[in-house]
Amino acid sequence: MEWTREQRYKKYSDWDAATLLQLQAQAATSKYQMHYHMHPLSGLMNDPNGFSYYNGEYHLFCQSYPFGPVHGLKSWTHYASDDLVHWHYLGQAINPDMDKDNAGAYSGSAMAHDGKLLLMYTGNHRDADWTRIPYQIIAEMDQDNHITKKDEATILPPDHVTEHFRDPQLFEHDDKFYVILGAQDKKTKTGQIDVYESTDLIHWHENGYLSLPNEMGYMIECPNLVFINGQPVLIFCPQGLDKSITNYDNVYPNMYLIGKDIDLSSAKFSPAQLAPINLDDGFDVYATQAFNAPDGTAYAISWVGLPDSTYPPTDQEGWANCYSQVKQLEIKDGQLYQHPVPAMRNLRYNEVSITNKKIISSDAKRQYELKLKIAAGQSSSLHLSDLILNFNTSSDAHLTVDRSHGPAINPDYGATRTISLGDNQDLDLDIFIDGSLCEIFINNGRHVMTLRFFSKSNTTISFDQNINYTGKLWDMHSIL
Ligand code: FRU
Repeated sequence: MEWTREQRYKKYSDWDAATLLQLQAQAATSKYQMHYHMHPLSGLMNDPNGFSYYNGEYHLFCQSYPFGPVHGLKSWTHYASDDLVHWHYLGQAINPDMDKDNAGAYSGSAMAHDGKLLLMYTGNHRDADWTRIPYQIIAEMDQDNHITKKDEATILPPDHVTEHFRDPQLFEHDDKFYVILGAQDKKTKTGQIDVYESTDLIHWHENGYLSLPNEMGYMIECPNLVFINGQPVLIFCPQGLDKSITNYDNVYPNMYLIGKDIDLSSAKFSPAQLAPINLDDGFDVYATQAFNAPDGTAYAISWVGLPDSTYPPTDQEGWANCYSQVKQLEIKDGQLYQHPVPAMRNLRYNEVSITNKKIISSDAKRQYELKLKIAAGQSSSLHLSDLILNFNTSSDAHLTVDRSHGPAINPDYGATRTISLGDNQDLDLDIFIDGSLCEIFINNGRHVMTLRFFSKSNTTISFDQNINYTGKLWDMHSIL
């Protein structure tokens, strides 16, 4: 069904409860649903927002459109967790109910400050002629999770940007407050990260665009900065990035850049790499949000879904997209590594050890974790129902994920993704399956490949020939 603009931007208060309940029931009973990854109760979820630690818990807010599998009038929904795995739904947090966010409460971040959690988001305002004005707005959440929005915009778009100026990350650094924003420069139509500074969270000074090693396409969405052992890491989505700078296969890339140093007061980022690197080597990761917890650990969570993309099997059921698991970030040998958080292990049950068996399971559940160490010097395929992982661990070592045997998903961007591996080395795979979501951590988090796939059943796990490996298979508890 084609959604008109009028339908997509209908006020929340004009929808009836029965429609919402029917959508929720449909999403809950879908065979493609995730049960240990965050997913929409109904409708569509996109960017993770406001990932933070406050009042003894982790908080996460989701860009949401509850009334269908389309990008309509966005709001923030709220979840909290004490282990980054079990998330409790706390309801609608920021609704698009004032003039400054009349066309959506767009993405943003959160920072604990003075006993409150400050949420900063983009009020996507549209005039009667549909001209967009992006307002950066702060809302305050208290210890009872009660949120009060400010009617005043904290940052107005400067003259030198187009209407594309959004996704503020608010944080404290060296005793000052900073906001970094995704922006499109008006004159050059290039993607930029604009830096603002404040000492009181009221008066903001624009320090200018962050210096970056490359031209980053025509727009940067969802920039975030974290520190890993003191090293700055930028995670961002450079839309339209020239593929000669860094190649990518998805419609829009989600990349990272490790820095040697950053001086936010002069907007100077000194890169430790020549060009950005794909954060995820699969099909479907975008808008990853990362933050530093109070103990300094950097955590990230990704939207598993892409702008301007559809996922017909679940779109037809009225719901769209999900989130990755939370990933703990580490820098090792100058590279970014991503790891499952320790609490993920608590979801395992029914452990089975497996060695060199061609058929690993013929009655796997729809939720499982499979950890394998495949010996060097081999070439074969692992079938996870109709998802196929082709690998070679001898020379020309690589791993290819092939989802061409299931329903076509965004076919213009291909049905395989390949990463190169070190020749003649063992291959470590930690594979998480949850309904229609697959996350593969490769070589202890050196790469991650995340994707949706739509098998009628997930029951069979097998190699296409006898190979040398050791492994473990666990069922995973359904908790969400
Ligand atoms: C990225 C994005 C953001 C925007 C939000 C709107 O997916 O386009 O730039 O704030 O989604 O939902």
